[in-house]
Amino acid sequence: MTAAITRSKGFINSSIGLKALMAASGLVYVGFVFVHMLGNLQIFLGAEAINVYAYNLHHTGPMLGKSGAVVWGARIFLLLCLAIHVFTAVKLKKQNWQARPQKYAYSHTIQATIASRYMGFSGLLILVFIVYHLLHFTFMPERFAVAYAPTMEHTIHGTSVAMHNVYGMVVASFQWAPVAIFYIVAQVLLALHLSHAVASVIQTLGFDQESKRARVQQISTAYALLILVGNASIPLAILTGLLQ
Ligand code: HEM
Repeated sequence: MTAAITRSKGFINSSIGLKALMAASGLVYVGFVFVHMLGNLQIFLGAEAINVYAYNLHHTGPMLGKSGAVVWGARIFLLLCLAIHVFTAVKLKKQNWQARPQKYAYSHTIQATIASRYMGFSGLLILVFIVYHLLHFTFMPERFAVAYAPTMEHTIHGTSVAMHNVYGMVVASFQWAPVAIFYIVAQVLLALHLSHAVASVIQTLGFDQESKRARVQQISTAYALLILVGNASIPLAILTGLLQ
C-alpha cells in the first residue's frame, strides 16, 4: 500500500506524470467548451430556446439550492480539473526553469508557434476571464450584468414557469461594447491556447509520429477556429444589433 502511494507520488511529480495530468484535465475543458458553445448558440433560436435549455440544465437531478445536483456535480468536477490544470502547468514551468536556468544564447523558438510560446500568458488571461465570466453570468449577475428583466415566463409541459432570463442577461450585457469586446478578445486568446493545446493533448496521448504532426496541428487549429467563430458570434451579433 505504502509502496503504491510512493509510486503514484513519484509518477505525479515526474514530468511525464505532470504532462499526462495536464493533458487529461485540459481535455475535459476541450470537450466542455464545445458543449457549452452548442448550448450558447441556442440564443440565435430566441429567448424561449435558451431560457428553457438553461432551466432544464439547472433542474436536472435533486435540487440543491437554485441548481440541481447534476449541475453541482459538473461544477465541482470542472473546478477540480481547472485546479489540476493550473497546478501542473505551474509545476512543469518551474521544472523547466530549474532544468534550464540560463536563457539560450540565441532564440531557440524559431520553429515554435506563437501559440506554444505564449501558453502561460494566454492561460493566465483565460483564468481571469473565467473568474469574471462566472461572477458575470452565474454567481452575481445582479451586480455584474447590465440591468435586465430577471425572469421570463415560458411554458414547460403545459405549465407556465417563471425562469431565469438568460437571453435578456446576455443580450443586455453584450449591448455594452466594452463587455462584448472583452468577451471577443477572451475568445481569441482561448482559440490561441486551444490551437496548441489540442495538438499537445493528441501527442501526449501517444499519437506522436513525425509524419502526422502537420495533420495533428491542422486538426487543432480547425477546432480552435470553430470555437472562436461559434463563441465570438454571440457578442458580435448583439453588438452589431443582429440579435436584439
Ligand atoms: C462568448 C462566449 C460565452 C458565452 C456567451 C457564455 C455564456 C454563458 C452563460 C449565459 C452562462 C450562464 C448559464 C446559466 O445561467 O444557465 C455561462 C456559464 C458558464 N460558462 Fe460560459 N459563455 C461563454 C464562454 C465560456 C468559456 C470560454 C468558458 C470556459 C472556458 C465558460 C465557462 C462557463 C462556466 C464554467 C459556466 C458556469 C456553469 C454553471 O455552473 O452554471 N464560458 N456561460
